[in-house]
Amino acid sequence: MQRLAPSLRQDNVSLDLISLIKTILAATKEISFRVSQAHLSGLMGSTLDENIQGEVQKKLDVVANQLLKDVLLESGFVKAISSEEEDNSVAGDEDGKFLVSFDPLDGSSNIDINSLIGTIFSIHEALPGVEAGDPAQFKQAGTKQVCAGYVLYGPSTMLVMTTGNGTHMYVLDRTHGGYLLVERNLQIPEETQEFAINMSNQRFWQAPMQNYINDLLAGKEGPREKNFNMRWIAAMVGDVHRVLNRGGIFTYPKDTKDPSKAGKLRLMYEANPMSFLVEQAGGLSVTSTGRIMEIEPTDVHQRVEVILGSKNEVEKCLSYYS
Ligand code: F6P
Ligand code: MN
Repeated sequence: MQRLAPSLRQDNVSLDLISLIKTILAATKEISFRVSQAHLSGLMGSTLDENIQGEVQKKLDVVANQLLKDVLLESGFVKAISSEEEDNSVAGDEDGKFLVSFDPLDGSSNIDINSLIGTIFSIHEALPGVEAGDPAQFKQAGTKQVCAGYVLYGPSTMLVMTTGNGTHMYVLDRTHGGYLLVERNLQIPEETQEFAINMSNQRFWQAPMQNYINDLLAGKEGPREKNFNMRWIAAMVGDVHRVLNRGGIFTYPKDTKDPSKAGKLRLMYEANPMSFLVEQAGGLSVTSTGRIMEIEPTDVHQRVEVILGSKNEVEKCLSYYS
């Protein structure tokens, strides 16, 4: 099986970007270890703090954020970072080439039940002429990402990543400590009979999503004339990993639960990187009004509606909005 660096060289990735990716992955190996130690590391449960989004911070959220932040800011490759767990973007090297946005531990409510969690990351090139400390650095659309990926801390630790030449999957081999390529060019099946949505929010959705999901639930006897199955891991990394591997539609739609929010998921370190991975695997990733990666960001913690997965099913869902 191919090691990480040769697999990236095959895709003509620059040496600087390969070094940055290896830096991120060094932190994920440490996070993977801490996660696997669970109660033995004294890192279960919550801190007494909330992050800027008003979510309770888990101890592991804080540790994972610090590990990534430290290695990235020390690397020399990074002009600035933004993280779910940081109030604002953080300046790195003024002449660093890259910007990294990350969700250090996605799905952190799963930590305490030993269920799927992961790290999501997105890399852009730094903007010349904009200072490292200026959050305007991050006002770049998802189409400008040069790399996106996630590391899933499951029964095995897996990396799924794209640099714009397909979406590839790796497994952390603990015998030598590196990520090994296990599948090149994942392809999401265009058709599916599986959907993922938090059904408990049904009464808050807009009419088109209500109608779409009602038709899926009607099964063989309904207008879709086939039965659908539902899955919800409550960690975007877990749900997207399933969609990338066997197809499906995943959505966190706009709802009226909190009218001040455009959605639940965050554009810069959740929706954009996952959109890049899904599109590179032949799927679609949209809001009800357009392609997610074309959104011009206004804020590092901006929220967005997400509908992604198998091409034909995402198109079907969108047809309810038109
Ligand atoms: O990071 C936000 C997140 O935890 C996602 O990983 C996940 O898809 C979603 O929220 C779960 O939402 P809910 O708590 O509504 O099930
Ligand atoms: Mn998250």
